[in-house]
Amino acid sequence: ARIRHYQWKVDYLYFSPDCVEKVIIAINGQYPGPPIRARVGDTIVVELENGLPTEDVVIHWHGIHQVGTPWYDGTAFVSQCPINPGETFKYKFVVSRPGTYFYHGHFGMQRSAGFYGSLIVDLEQGEKEPYAYDGELSIILNDWWHRSMYDQETGLFSIPFRFVGEPQSLLIEGRGSYNCSLVPSGSVAGSGDCVNCNSSNPQCQPYILPVEPGKTYRLRITSVASLSSLNFILEGHNMTIVEADGYNVDPVVVENLDVYSGETYSVLFTANQNPSQNYWAAVNVRGRKPATPTGLAVLNYLPNPSSLLPSTPSPVSPVWNDFDYSLNQSKLIVARQGYEVPPPTPDRQLILLTTQNKVNGKIKWGINNVTYVPTSTPVLVALKYGLKKAYDPIPPPDYPTRPFNISSPPPNPNAIVGSGVYKFQFGSVVDVIIQNANMLNPNNSEIHPWHLHGHDFWVLGSGKGIFNPVTDPQGYNLNNPPLKNTVPVFPYGWVALRFRADNPGVWPFHCHVEAHFHMGMGVIFAEGWDRLPQLPKSILGCGLSKYL
Ligand code: C2O
Ligand code: CU
Repeated sequence: ARIRHYQWKVDYLYFSPDCVEKVIIAINGQYPGPPIRARVGDTIVVELENGLPTEDVVIHWHGIHQVGTPWYDGTAFVSQCPINPGETFKYKFVVSRPGTYFYHGHFGMQRSAGFYGSLIVDLEQGEKEPYAYDGELSIILNDWWHRSMYDQETGLFSIPFRFVGEPQSLLIEGRGSYNCSLVPSGSVAGSGDCVNCNSSNPQCQPYILPVEPGKTYRLRITSVASLSSLNFILEGHNMTIVEADGYNVDPVVVENLDVYSGETYSVLFTANQNPSQNYWAAVNVRGRKPATPTGLAVLNYLPNPSSLLPSTPSPVSPVWNDFDYSLNQSKLIVARQGYEVPPPTPDRQLILLTTQNKVNGKIKWGINNVTYVPTSTPVLVALKYGLKKAYDPIPPPDYPTRPFNISSPPPNPNAIVGSGVYKFQFGSVVDVIIQNANMLNPNNSEIHPWHLHGHDFWVLGSGKGIFNPVTDPQGYNLNNPPLKNTVPVFPYGWVALRFRADNPGVWPFHCHVEAHFHMGMGVIFAEGWDRLPQLPKSILGCGLSKYL
């Protein structure tokens, strides 16, 4: 195993991912950030200098378990104090599983400012995947707004509430194309400022996926979307899903692939179409009424020039509200043989009802009527050193606290704010059922991709309506449930997860929609913190941790 050393500086940068210029958060002047590529067992060292003059940062390594290094998980006020302007912080952790992962800012809404990149872990030297391919490609999908993240954040916390709205563009590997001619000149009109819009800017030329005719490729696909559920299409080519969130799955052939924020996939495809032309790689919005044009990249059959754009129209995805289509696709994904199967029963069960709520007149999201607000002391530090004043000592509820009806707006939408922690017995088996419900508006329920730090979970089952604790567990898949770190919960439905609380540390479990987490849609899990050695000094300094 090797040590892989990276020196990164975070800066603001003028950039034009979709041809419209805005200020983004970049690493070493790059967007997306520099890719990390390692082998199982390697140690990653990232020395991160915060070059933002007035803003803190952290980086979370999404999908990496951080066994023995929970303080390098990179979540502000959970695993560490955020890194102040001018400071350098050293992340150091081992990548112990192969797979497709990524990293992103985890403070405020910095991910939506472009602060992310890919992290790919290869098998140990000499080992082989149970599927063959000739070449490899990798893309990150994202949705993009012209308004700054500060503008977006302020709107979410305002009365009246101002939602971020639908994205202006969809990006593939940081590139899209906004049609400025649609915007009346001089107007801002919520779609952003088209003053510095230049469609020949090299930063917004479509991303090129080069392939040789006849060969088979592994394409790694990650979604870091802030809001949108996405659907990916390779025009004219079927895709075989072989990996999801770092685990091999039973191969399944699809014409298009739903990808939720926080998920990663690998698909195989063969360049077996007419080689005299190029094809679109396309991404569309699912699950919300789309108001965003298709994001496009070019599948370039060599030796055609990459500038040879397909003459075909943009590929069309299934209808945005065909939720059954998405549900069916997610049910096709099961673990490949050879992985551990879940223990037959849990030691503890949580049912987390997710609702839209109001706190002091502001719109929030709540979990069993508690809205998460970050503490000013990292929870890891508070637990380890017994700083009882640093977090809410009352544990949040394991079950919904009021009678509920998921098909209409909550009669009493008021929630309390909290930073309570679900503490698990070390090594115990935990079931979490996430129950989706109607929002504050009638006839409205959204997709929420839930992500767990520090663990993978078995997805035991999902269904429509209210989870029935007696009958629904009888239908759980205990034979080959997929192992994931992120799972979508569909409108008016539920999902059941099982995991082992065996990783000492403090781990957020939250909706990966940037705006939703920012509005309180998350909880904190913790286990085995008493087994941890002395915490590194570099994570201290904020809240009550400055007195240690
Ligand atoms: Cu990728 Cu806590 O998130
Ligand atoms: Cu959500």
